[in-house]
Amino acid sequence: MQQIRKAVIPVAGLGTRFLPATKAIPKEMLTIIDRPTIQYIVEEVVASGIEEVILITSDGKSAIEKHFDYDYELDNVLKEKNKLKLRDELTHISNLIDVVSVRQKKPLGLGHAIWMARKVVGNEPFLVLLGDDLVRSETPCCRQMLDLYNQVGESIVAIQRVPMEQTCHYGIVEGEGTEFERTFKINRMLEKPSPGMSDSDKAIIGRYLLTPEIFEILGRTKPGHGGEIQLTDALQTLANQQGMYAYEFEGRRYDAGDKLGYLKAIVDVAMSHPTLGKPFREYLQTVSACTCSTSRS
Ligand code: UTP
Repeated sequence: MQQIRKAVIPVAGLGTRFLPATKAIPKEMLTIIDRPTIQYIVEEVVASGIEEVILITSDGKSAIEKHFDYDYELDNVLKEKNKLKLRDELTHISNLIDVVSVRQKKPLGLGHAIWMARKVVGNEPFLVLLGDDLVRSETPCCRQMLDLYNQVGESIVAIQRVPMEQTCHYGIVEGEGTEFERTFKINRMLEKPSPGMSDSDKAIIGRYLLTPEIFEILGRTKPGHGGEIQLTDALQTLANQQGMYAYEFEGRRYDAGDKLGYLKAIVDVAMSHPTLGKPFREYLQTVSACTCSTSRS
């Protein structure tokens, strides 16, 4: 079995759900406590044993590259001011992993963004993590998928169960259970199905483990839902050609590109934070229904 060494993280989307905040700041740089969302995602990759991150970027996203780069001037200032703990933290971030960037010149869709990585990934299986999809789990979600891949040797998409009325917001998979725990063999995939099109509640989240044949398929995939080149359409072809598994990962996932998902991520991370957790939980207990009812449009 070929070893998986690379992870592609597309961050070239427009982030319209978070406007006006994302007019000048990439949504992946919005902070959860004191770290941008993208750092949590890169840390998951590192903790899973991956060697290289390929960022698919666009105009206005250079702050993400800067965040993982070494800043000589800032390093000197922190040294002069004897802020050594902070200096160590920044050094740690810049040494986390090798980061390569590829430009997606137009936001033609997630499928097109992944296709942009073909030359850097080459002919080997790889991971994809969406830059605004946060997963908190004991074993990193990508590590769980890599362990499954070592047993099944086929592409894998991570899934979670969603209420039926929400399936129209996700890529949905249909399939049968297998001998592997929490794992389904995929028969059919649908991108954001209208009500009644599928009775499956298995929704694809932002973690994929893909074989390199996906690139050739993406190269000939026509624009689909929303006029974008959809990854789900290409995944269906790959599943037909080679087989594919859906894996119900262990952990909790947050759509940090959505306002409510982002808020949930902040609250959950804050509640279990080593120093802020206790005072924050105490504070939350004082937040009564009465104070919550004061709304702001
Ligand atoms: P989303 O649809 O969640 O992201 O795409 P978006 O387009 O940035 O956000 P909204 O919907 O306008 O608020 C899922 C992922 O695919 C990437 C996004 O950056 C995100 O990580 N993406 C999407 C690209 O890299 N390029 C694209 O053309 C589209």
